[in-house]
Amino acid sequence: MLLDLERNAVTATESLDRAVSPQLAALWSRGTDFLGSRYAILGGAMSWVSERHLVAAISNAGGFGVIACGSMSPSLLEAEIAATQALTDKPFGVNLITMHPALDELIQVCLRAGVGHIVLAGGVPSGAAVKAVKDGGAKLVCFAPALVLAKRLVRSGADALVIEGSEAGGHIGPVSLMVLAQEILPVMRDVPVFVAGGLGRGDAILGMLEMGAAGAQLGTLFAATSESIAHANFKKAFFRANARDALPSVQLDERFPVIPVRGLVNAGTKRFLATQAETLRRFQANEVTREEGQLSIEHFWAGALRRAVIEGDVEEGSVMAGQSVGMVREERPVAVVIAQLLDEAEAMLASRGPAPASV
Ligand SMILES: Cc1cc2nc3c(=O)[nH]c(=O)nc-3n(C[C@H](O)[C@H](O)[C@H](O)COP(=O)(O)O)c2cc1C
Repeated sequence: MLLDLERNAVTATESLDRAVSPQLAALWSRGTDFLGSRYAILGGAMSWVSERHLVAAISNAGGFGVIACGSMSPSLLEAEIAATQALTDKPFGVNLITMHPALDELIQVCLRAGVGHIVLAGGVPSGAAVKAVKDGGAKLVCFAPALVLAKRLVRSGADALVIEGSEAGGHIGPVSLMVLAQEILPVMRDVPVFVAGGLGRGDAILGMLEMGAAGAQLGTLFAATSESIAHANFKKAFFRANARDALPSVQLDERFPVIPVRGLVNAGTKRFLATQAETLRRFQANEVTREEGQLSIEHFWAGALRRAVIEGDVEEGSVMAGQSVGMVREERPVAVVIAQLLDEAEAMLASRGPAPASV
């Protein structure tokens, strides 16, 4: 760890109060103003991973941490928010899944605790959920998987958008960030738009800011940091993996849809294919109905992320990871990761020298 810090020539404290160049500050000012953070770098919510320690570490290091509520009950979420507030006095957000059966209650828990930013993920939020967030005075962040939906979300009240490319870890859409960015960033100027998916370097983030992004959201890079509670096996799997090892889940037959999730290929992903093949065979032999078959496929991954993240079973569990996993080689503190992103963005800006006089 010491060697690592020396090589990167930064310390954990340095990035906490480090000023950025006027160019970088101007490029992401819309993002920092919106988030209330020093840097417009969000730690994307990751179920089981984005809990008090990682979220507080990201916010304390000048980024913006986001708690992943996942399937937590309202009382568990309430405790997690309070515990995070005990670890940081900086702003952080909470990510809620729209299909959670207690969504209304979860929103109220966030509002009562004074959470300023609520991210509604996993589908277009209902009018009631949008109204509850806004009436409670929190800022609403939504995921926009296409321009038409981005416009609709802003019309219905979203205060900011995240566009997440298919390079990302976890549940993904079909379109890459490179294409989403070109489709949405030049057009969507009404609200800040944060980009996510495949980002692992500060110069790449800079490129997105120059296209009009307000900031960047990263997950994979933060999942393997020192402050992440992910099991050592989970982190080691990240260090070993290359971009090509983080693949989307495969669907064998369109009659049995599979929700696309990007993660590391392992024994579980291979067994998932075999399960689909067996389900298809039994369906064709009239041994199960389509509904029964679909249910067995949907249940396959139940509890599998926890199994990998918390229990460390990286062979049978779901090791969600984005393609940027190939850029994760060792465990580093969050502040060091953020400092390196800043270094890379600043180095790119500096390498251009002063702007040439126009002719
Ligand atoms: C292990 C893991 C779990 C994730 N869980 C969630 C989640 O619960 N909710 C969510 O909105 N996004 C989730 N994501 C997506 C991240 O919030 C983030 O948008 C994504 O990781 C960004 O892309 P990157 O992985 O290329 O950095 C998850 C990602 C990973 C790697």
